[in-house]
Amino acid sequence: MYNVHPVAPKRLPELLKRMPKAELHIHIEGSLEPELIFKLSKKNNIPIPYESVESLRAAYAFNNLQSFLDIYYAGASVLINEDDFYEMAYAYFLKAAEDHVLHAELFFDPQTHTERGVPMEAVIKGLNRACNEAKDKLGITSCLILCFLRHLSEEDAFKTLDEALPFKQFWVGVGLDSSEVGHPPEKFAKVFAKCKELGFRLVAHAGEEGPPAYIWSALDVLGVERVDHGVQSIKDPELVKRLSSERIPLTVCPLSNLKLKVFSSLSEHNIAKLLAQGLCVTINSDDPAYFGGYIYENFIKTFEALGLGAREAYAFAHNSFEASFMSVAEKEKCFHALKVCFESFVENDA
Ligand code: ADE
Ligand code: ZN
Repeated sequence: MYNVHPVAPKRLPELLKRMPKAELHIHIEGSLEPELIFKLSKKNNIPIPYESVESLRAAYAFNNLQSFLDIYYAGASVLINEDDFYEMAYAYFLKAAEDHVLHAELFFDPQTHTERGVPMEAVIKGLNRACNEAKDKLGITSCLILCFLRHLSEEDAFKTLDEALPFKQFWVGVGLDSSEVGHPPEKFAKVFAKCKELGFRLVAHAGEEGPPAYIWSALDVLGVERVDHGVQSIKDPELVKRLSSERIPLTVCPLSNLKLKVFSSLSEHNIAKLLAQGLCVTINSDDPAYFGGYIYENFIKTFEALGLGAREAYAFAHNSFEASFMSVAEKEKCFHALKVCFESFVENDA
Protein backbone atom coordinates (compact mmCIF):
# COMPACT_ATOMS: atom_id res chain seq x y z
CA MET A 1 0.00 0.00 0.00
CA TYR A 2 1.19 3.49 -0.83
CA ASN A 3 2.66 5.37 2.13
CA VAL A 4 0.51 8.49 2.39
CA HIS A 5 2.36 11.57 3.59
CA PRO A 6 0.35 13.78 5.97
CA VAL A 7 -0.96 17.03 4.52
CA ALA A 8 -1.24 20.25 6.53
CA PRO A 9 -4.88 20.76 7.61
CA LYS A 10 -5.07 24.06 5.77
CA ARG A 11 -4.22 22.28 2.50
CA LEU A 12 -6.77 19.47 2.98
CA PRO A 13 -9.58 21.25 1.05
CA GLU A 14 -7.28 21.69 -1.94
CA LEU A 15 -6.21 18.04 -1.76
CA LEU A 16 -9.83 16.83 -1.57
CA LYS A 17 -10.75 19.01 -4.53
CA ARG A 18 -7.78 18.19 -6.73
CA MET A 19 -7.36 14.49 -6.07
CA PRO A 20 -8.63 12.32 -8.92
CA LYS A 21 -11.73 10.36 -7.97
CA ALA A 22 -14.59 8.28 -9.34
CA GLU A 23 -18.26 8.86 -8.59
CA LEU A 24 -20.21 5.61 -8.36
CA HIS A 25 -23.52 6.68 -6.83
CA ILE A 26 -25.25 9.56 -8.56
CA HIS A 27 -28.86 9.49 -9.73
CA ILE A 28 -28.69 11.69 -12.77
CA GLU A 29 -32.26 12.92 -12.16
CA GLY A 30 -30.99 14.01 -8.73
CA SER A 31 -28.57 16.41 -10.41
CA LEU A 32 -31.46 18.44 -11.86
CA GLU A 33 -30.96 21.89 -10.34
CA PRO A 34 -34.02 24.10 -9.64
CA GLU A 35 -32.89 26.56 -12.35
CA LEU A 36 -32.97 23.80 -14.98
CA ILE A 37 -36.29 22.47 -13.62
CA PHE A 38 -37.80 25.93 -14.19
CA LYS A 39 -36.24 26.31 -17.62
CA LEU A 40 -37.54 22.90 -18.81
CA SER A 41 -40.90 23.45 -17.15
CA LYS A 42 -41.39 26.57 -19.28
CA LYS A 43 -39.95 25.06 -22.47
CA ASN A 44 -42.05 21.89 -22.25
CA ASN A 45 -45.11 23.53 -20.78
CA ILE A 46 -45.17 21.26 -17.73
CA PRO A 47 -46.43 23.23 -14.71
CA ILE A 48 -44.69 22.76 -11.37
CA PRO A 49 -46.39 23.88 -8.16
CA TYR A 50 -43.70 26.40 -7.14
CA GLU A 51 -43.51 30.14 -7.85
CA SER A 52 -39.76 30.48 -8.14
CA VAL A 53 -36.39 28.76 -7.97
CA GLU A 54 -36.10 29.99 -4.38
CA SER A 55 -39.47 28.59 -3.29
CA LEU A 56 -38.63 25.24 -4.90
CA ARG A 57 -35.26 25.15 -3.16
CA ALA A 58 -36.97 26.09 0.11
CA ALA A 59 -39.12 22.95 -0.21
CA TYR A 60 -36.00 20.78 0.00
CA ALA A 61 -36.45 19.96 3.69
CA PHE A 62 -36.89 16.23 4.12
CA ASN A 63 -37.81 13.94 7.01
CA ASN A 64 -36.88 10.67 5.38
CA LEU A 65 -36.33 8.96 2.03
CA GLN A 66 -40.01 9.01 0.99
CA SER A 67 -40.45 12.75 1.60
CA PHE A 68 -37.50 13.34 -0.72
CA LEU A 69 -38.65 10.89 -3.40
CA ASP A 70 -42.02 12.66 -3.71
CA ILE A 71 -40.34 15.93 -4.69
CA TYR A 72 -37.60 14.22 -6.75
CA TYR A 73 -40.17 12.50 -9.00
CA ALA A 74 -42.10 15.80 -9.35
CA GLY A 75 -38.86 17.54 -10.43
CA ALA A 76 -38.10 14.84 -13.01
CA SER A 77 -41.53 15.36 -14.64
CA VAL A 78 -40.16 18.31 -16.69
CA LEU A 79 -37.84 16.00 -18.68
CA ILE A 80 -39.47 15.24 -22.03
CA ASN A 81 -37.08 15.28 -24.99
CA GLU A 82 -33.74 13.64 -25.71
CA ASP A 83 -32.12 17.09 -25.47
CA ASP A 84 -33.46 17.54 -21.93
CA PHE A 85 -31.73 14.35 -20.77
CA TYR A 86 -28.57 15.42 -22.55
CA GLU A 87 -28.63 18.89 -20.98
CA MET A 88 -29.21 17.53 -17.47
CA ALA A 89 -26.38 15.00 -17.71
CA TYR A 90 -23.90 17.35 -19.36
CA ALA A 91 -24.52 19.92 -16.60
CA TYR A 92 -23.58 17.18 -14.11
CA PHE A 93 -20.38 16.37 -15.99
CA LEU A 94 -19.34 20.05 -15.89
CA LYS A 95 -19.66 19.97 -12.08
CA ALA A 96 -17.85 16.62 -11.93
CA ALA A 97 -14.96 18.04 -13.97
CA GLU A 98 -14.55 20.90 -11.46
CA ASP A 99 -14.26 18.29 -8.70
CA HIS A 100 -11.65 16.25 -10.62
CA VAL A 101 -13.91 13.26 -11.19
CA LEU A 102 -12.13 11.08 -13.77
CA HIS A 103 -14.88 8.48 -14.06
CA ALA A 104 -18.61 8.49 -13.24
CA GLU A 105 -21.20 5.71 -13.18
CA LEU A 106 -24.63 7.28 -13.59
CA PHE A 107 -27.91 5.79 -12.36
CA PHE A 108 -31.02 6.60 -14.31
CA ASP A 109 -34.67 5.77 -13.53
CA PRO A 110 -36.38 5.00 -16.86
CA GLN A 111 -39.74 4.09 -15.31
CA THR A 112 -40.09 7.66 -14.00
CA HIS A 113 -40.10 8.79 -17.63
CA THR A 114 -41.64 5.97 -19.65
CA GLU A 115 -44.75 5.92 -17.44
CA ARG A 116 -45.31 9.56 -18.55
CA GLY A 117 -45.04 8.55 -22.21
CA VAL A 118 -41.40 9.55 -22.75
CA PRO A 119 -39.77 7.03 -25.09
CA MET A 120 -36.94 4.89 -23.65
CA GLU A 121 -34.89 5.86 -26.68
CA ALA A 122 -35.04 9.59 -25.77
CA VAL A 123 -33.87 8.87 -22.22
CA ILE A 124 -30.98 6.60 -23.10
CA LYS A 125 -29.77 8.40 -26.22
CA GLY A 126 -29.83 11.80 -24.51
CA LEU A 127 -27.79 10.47 -21.58
CA ASN A 128 -25.42 8.62 -23.88
CA ARG A 129 -24.75 11.78 -25.91
CA ALA A 130 -23.74 13.59 -22.72
CA CYS A 131 -21.45 10.67 -21.76
CA ASN A 132 -19.73 10.79 -25.16
CA GLU A 133 -19.29 14.55 -24.98
CA ALA A 134 -17.93 14.30 -21.42
CA LYS A 135 -15.23 11.96 -22.73
CA ASP A 136 -14.38 14.14 -25.74
CA LYS A 137 -14.47 17.56 -24.10
CA LEU A 138 -13.75 16.92 -20.42
CA GLY A 139 -11.80 13.65 -20.49
CA ILE A 140 -14.31 12.02 -18.09
CA THR A 141 -15.15 8.37 -18.75
CA SER A 142 -18.57 7.14 -17.71
CA CYS A 143 -21.20 4.47 -17.99
CA LEU A 144 -24.94 4.19 -17.35
CA ILE A 145 -26.71 1.94 -14.83
CA LEU A 146 -30.44 1.39 -15.33
CA CYS A 147 -32.30 1.34 -12.01
CA PHE A 148 -35.56 -0.47 -11.40
CA LEU A 149 -37.97 1.35 -9.08
CA ARG A 150 -38.55 -1.03 -6.19
CA HIS A 151 -41.95 0.44 -5.23
CA LEU A 152 -43.24 -0.88 -8.58
CA SER A 153 -43.73 -4.56 -9.42
CA GLU A 154 -41.18 -7.03 -10.75
CA GLU A 155 -43.44 -7.39 -13.79
CA ASP A 156 -42.99 -3.68 -14.47
CA ALA A 157 -39.23 -4.13 -14.11
CA PHE A 158 -39.29 -6.91 -16.74
CA LYS A 159 -41.29 -4.64 -19.07
CA THR A 160 -38.70 -1.89 -18.57
CA LEU A 161 -35.87 -4.32 -19.26
CA ASP A 162 -37.55 -5.36 -22.54
CA GLU A 163 -37.94 -1.73 -23.57
CA ALA A 164 -34.29 -0.96 -22.79
CA LEU A 165 -32.72 -4.02 -24.42
CA PRO A 166 -32.74 -2.51 -27.94
CA PHE A 167 -30.32 0.10 -26.52
CA LYS A 168 -28.20 -2.33 -24.52
CA GLN A 169 -24.93 -1.09 -25.99
CA PHE A 170 -25.48 2.17 -24.08
CA TRP A 171 -25.80 0.85 -20.51
CA VAL A 172 -23.65 -1.57 -18.54
CA GLY A 173 -25.64 -2.63 -15.52
CA VAL A 174 -28.80 -2.55 -13.44
CA GLY A 175 -29.56 -1.22 -9.98
CA LEU A 176 -32.48 -1.02 -7.59
CA ASP A 177 -33.66 2.23 -6.03
CA SER A 178 -36.67 4.20 -4.67
CA SER A 179 -38.61 3.41 -1.46
CA GLU A 180 -36.62 0.76 0.36
CA VAL A 181 -38.54 -0.33 3.46
CA GLY A 182 -41.27 -2.83 2.53
CA HIS A 183 -39.63 -3.59 -0.84
CA PRO A 184 -36.82 -6.06 -0.08
CA PRO A 185 -34.33 -7.04 -2.77
CA GLU A 186 -35.78 -10.56 -3.16
CA LYS A 187 -38.88 -8.98 -4.73
CA PHE A 188 -36.65 -8.58 -7.83
CA ALA A 189 -34.88 -11.95 -7.77
CA LYS A 190 -36.08 -13.09 -11.19
CA VAL A 191 -35.37 -9.89 -13.10
CA PHE A 192 -31.88 -9.64 -11.59
CA ALA A 193 -31.22 -13.28 -12.52
CA LYS A 194 -32.24 -12.46 -16.09
CA CYS A 195 -29.96 -9.39 -16.16
CA LYS A 196 -27.07 -11.48 -14.86
CA GLU A 197 -27.67 -14.04 -17.59
CA LEU A 198 -27.61 -11.20 -20.13
CA GLY A 199 -24.19 -10.15 -18.84
CA PHE A 200 -25.11 -6.91 -17.07
CA ARG A 201 -23.30 -5.67 -13.96
CA LEU A 202 -25.48 -5.77 -10.82
CA VAL A 203 -25.81 -3.30 -7.94
CA ALA A 204 -28.63 -2.42 -5.54
CA HIS A 205 -29.52 0.12 -2.89
CA ALA A 206 -29.69 -1.74 0.41
CA GLY A 207 -29.30 -0.73 4.03
CA GLU A 208 -30.00 2.97 3.48
CA GLU A 209 -33.04 2.92 5.76
CA GLY A 210 -33.68 -0.82 5.51
CA PRO A 211 -32.22 -3.50 7.84
CA PRO A 212 -29.02 -5.56 7.39
CA ALA A 213 -31.26 -8.42 6.15
CA TYR A 214 -31.81 -6.40 2.95
CA ILE A 215 -28.05 -6.23 2.39
CA TRP A 216 -27.71 -10.02 2.84
CA SER A 217 -30.53 -10.46 0.36
CA ALA A 218 -28.97 -8.06 -2.17
CA LEU A 219 -25.76 -10.11 -1.96
CA ASP A 220 -27.13 -13.64 -1.76
CA VAL A 221 -30.42 -13.45 -3.68
CA LEU A 222 -29.67 -10.77 -6.27
CA GLY A 223 -25.92 -11.44 -6.46
CA VAL A 224 -24.90 -7.78 -6.56
CA GLU A 225 -21.25 -6.79 -6.86
CA ARG A 226 -21.65 -3.50 -5.03
CA VAL A 227 -24.08 -2.22 -2.40
CA ASP A 228 -25.40 1.35 -2.61
CA HIS A 229 -25.46 3.00 0.84
CA GLY A 230 -25.15 -0.11 3.03
CA VAL A 231 -24.60 2.01 6.15
CA GLN A 232 -27.00 -0.12 8.24
CA SER A 233 -24.51 -3.02 7.86
CA ILE A 234 -22.77 -1.79 11.00
CA LYS A 235 -25.61 -3.28 13.07
CA ASP A 236 -24.58 -6.81 12.01
CA PRO A 237 -20.95 -7.81 12.78
CA GLU A 238 -21.19 -10.99 10.65
CA LEU A 239 -22.23 -8.87 7.68
CA VAL A 240 -19.40 -6.39 8.25
CA LYS A 241 -17.00 -9.38 8.27
CA ARG A 242 -18.40 -10.62 4.97
CA LEU A 243 -18.24 -7.17 3.31
CA SER A 244 -14.69 -6.74 4.53
CA SER A 245 -13.34 -10.19 3.65
CA GLU A 246 -14.88 -10.11 0.14
CA ARG A 247 -14.14 -6.39 -0.33
CA ILE A 248 -17.71 -5.78 -1.44
CA PRO A 249 -17.89 -2.02 -2.01
CA LEU A 250 -20.37 0.26 -0.27
CA THR A 251 -21.11 3.48 -2.18
CA VAL A 252 -21.84 5.81 0.73
CA CYS A 253 -23.46 9.25 0.37
CA PRO A 254 -22.90 11.27 3.55
CA LEU A 255 -24.86 14.45 2.73
CA SER A 256 -27.79 12.35 1.51
CA ASN A 257 -27.76 10.41 4.78
CA LEU A 258 -27.72 13.69 6.69
CA LYS A 259 -30.56 15.32 4.71
CA LEU A 260 -32.72 12.18 4.85
CA LYS A 261 -32.05 11.85 8.59
CA VAL A 262 -30.32 8.47 8.44
CA PHE A 263 -27.83 10.13 10.82
CA SER A 264 -28.74 13.14 12.94
CA SER A 265 -25.40 14.85 12.27
CA LEU A 266 -22.38 14.19 10.05
CA SER A 267 -20.24 13.77 13.14
CA GLU A 268 -22.35 10.69 13.92
CA HIS A 269 -21.88 9.19 10.45
CA ASN A 270 -20.31 5.71 10.51
CA ILE A 271 -18.26 5.98 7.29
CA ALA A 272 -14.93 6.35 9.11
CA LYS A 273 -15.73 3.31 11.29
CA LEU A 274 -16.59 1.26 8.22
CA LEU A 275 -13.35 2.32 6.53
CA ALA A 276 -11.35 1.48 9.67
CA GLN A 277 -12.96 -1.99 9.71
CA GLY A 278 -11.44 -2.68 6.30
CA LEU A 279 -14.47 -2.10 4.10
CA CYS A 280 -14.18 -0.77 0.56
CA VAL A 281 -16.27 2.36 1.18
CA THR A 282 -16.50 5.29 -1.23
CA ILE A 283 -17.89 8.85 -0.98
CA ASN A 284 -20.58 9.91 -3.45
CA SER A 285 -23.25 12.55 -3.94
CA ASP A 286 -26.49 10.53 -4.56
CA ASP A 287 -28.77 13.46 -5.54
CA PRO A 288 -26.52 16.51 -5.39
CA ALA A 289 -29.08 19.13 -6.46
CA TYR A 290 -31.27 18.15 -3.49
CA PHE A 291 -28.76 17.39 -0.75
CA GLY A 292 -26.56 20.47 -0.63
CA GLY A 293 -23.63 19.58 -2.79
CA TYR A 294 -21.68 17.54 -5.29
CA ILE A 295 -18.90 15.06 -4.54
CA TYR A 296 -16.39 17.63 -3.26
CA GLU A 297 -18.91 19.01 -0.73
CA ASN A 298 -19.53 15.45 0.42
CA PHE A 299 -15.79 14.98 0.94
CA ILE A 300 -15.04 18.27 2.66
CA LYS A 301 -18.04 18.27 5.00
CA THR A 302 -17.46 14.64 6.01
CA PHE A 303 -13.74 15.20 6.57
CA GLU A 304 -14.40 18.28 8.70
CA ALA A 305 -17.09 16.59 10.76
CA LEU A 306 -15.09 13.42 11.39
CA GLY A 307 -11.59 14.93 11.59
CA LEU A 308 -10.22 12.86 8.70
CA GLY A 309 -6.98 13.53 6.80
CA ALA A 310 -4.81 12.60 3.82
CA ARG A 311 -4.68 8.86 4.59
CA GLU A 312 -8.45 8.56 4.48
CA ALA A 313 -8.63 10.80 1.39
CA TYR A 314 -6.27 8.46 -0.44
CA ALA A 315 -8.20 5.40 0.72
CA PHE A 316 -11.59 6.75 -0.42
CA ALA A 317 -10.25 7.81 -3.82
CA HIS A 318 -8.39 4.50 -4.29
CA ASN A 319 -11.53 2.59 -3.29
CA SER A 320 -13.60 4.58 -5.81
CA PHE A 321 -11.42 3.37 -8.68
CA GLU A 322 -11.16 -0.18 -7.29
CA ALA A 323 -14.95 -0.44 -6.92
CA SER A 324 -15.70 0.98 -10.38
CA PHE A 325 -16.63 -0.98 -13.49
CA MET A 326 -13.55 0.26 -15.36
CA SER A 327 -11.15 -2.23 -16.93
CA VAL A 328 -7.98 -3.18 -15.05
CA ALA A 329 -5.90 -1.02 -17.41
CA GLU A 330 -8.15 2.02 -16.87
CA LYS A 331 -8.01 1.49 -13.11
CA GLU A 332 -4.20 1.36 -13.22
CA LYS A 333 -4.12 4.74 -14.98
CA CYS A 334 -6.35 6.23 -12.28
CA PHE A 335 -4.27 4.73 -9.44
CA HIS A 336 -1.21 6.28 -11.06
CA ALA A 337 -2.90 9.70 -11.38
CA LEU A 338 -3.86 9.47 -7.71
CA LYS A 339 -0.26 8.83 -6.61
CA VAL A 340 1.04 11.66 -8.79
CA CYS A 341 -1.45 14.02 -7.15
CA PHE A 342 -0.50 12.98 -3.61
CA GLU A 343 3.21 13.24 -4.42
CA SER A 344 2.75 16.78 -5.72
CA PHE A 345 1.39 17.70 -2.29
CA VAL A 346 4.45 16.21 -0.58
CA GLU A 347 6.84 18.15 -2.83
CA ASN A 348 4.92 21.40 -2.40
CA ASP A 349 4.95 20.88 1.34
CA ALA A 350 8.73 20.53 1.60
N1 ADE B 1 -33.51 7.54 -5.83
C1 ADE B 1 -32.84 8.69 -5.84
N2 ADE B 1 -32.16 8.83 -4.71
C2 ADE B 1 -32.40 7.73 -3.96
C3 ADE B 1 -31.98 7.27 -2.70
N3 ADE B 1 -31.16 7.99 -1.92
N4 ADE B 1 -32.45 6.10 -2.24
C4 ADE B 1 -33.28 5.38 -2.99
N5 ADE B 1 -33.71 5.77 -4.19
C5 ADE B 1 -33.26 6.93 -4.68
ZN1 ZN C 1 -29.06 6.51 -4.31
